[in-house]
Amino acid sequence: MRKPVIAMDGYSSTGKSSISKIIAKKLDLVHLDTGSLYRAITYYALKNCLDNDGKIDLNKLYADFHLLKITFKIQEHELKLYLNGENMSQKIRQLKVNNHVSFIAKQPEIREFLLNLQRNTAVNGGIIMDGRDIGAFVLPDADYKFFLTASIEERTKRRFRELQGMGIETDEKTVGENLIKRDKIDSEREVSPLRQAKDAVLIDNTLISKEETIDLILSKIRKF
Ligand code: DC
Repeated sequence: MRKPVIAMDGYSSTGKSSISKIIAKKLDLVHLDTGSLYRAITYYALKNCLDNDGKIDLNKLYADFHLLKITFKIQEHELKLYLNGENMSQKIRQLKVNNHVSFIAKQPEIREFLLNLQRNTAVNGGIIMDGRDIGAFVLPDADYKFFLTASIEERTKRRFRELQGMGIETDEKTVGENLIKRDKIDSEREVSPLRQAKDAVLIDNTLISKEETIDLILSKIRKF
């Protein structure tokens, strides 16, 4: 029997990725964090496509598209991303990548470049993909669609705790401002903005725990 395709979209720091990871394990699916694709392109651009002023030269990046070989290795239900054979897991989490990824993700050429890759990855089912435009655009025929949101105050607290846990020194005000800025860029970009698909289940997890969010999602998914 064909396993389902699940689209998990929503705002930053609503727990999309960590929740998707757990659901993938529980339902024996694989999980793809599509943000990692935009992050890997950003990492490549910062390393190979800077102009004389140290800014990303998009034309140089587009000319390099044919050199970019993105592959995955499945590890504990996760599709781990490799770019030209290099494991991207840690490298794409750098602050420098964080600061440039929204700029990269809003370029139509880059979204187009990654579209077929995402669609092909889901073609045989058995996958949960998290991102911003999965249910509304990348996989409009997904079997299940969820859209996660939470108040900006709660998301700021979660992100702040996460950064503290990673040993990154910052303060809540800066974290909140960064989240608002990223939400704005992601929601207002012209191509494929952050948007809830009409047929997605909206879950506001401001007042519920990660475990409760997972239970709620699982309760909506029929046994297969
Ligand atoms: O989820 P994340 O923080 O790793 O995402 C990184 C960036 O990529 C963020 O600016 C949103 C963007 N993104 C996107 O535009 N579309 C997706 N499907 C996934 C991420």
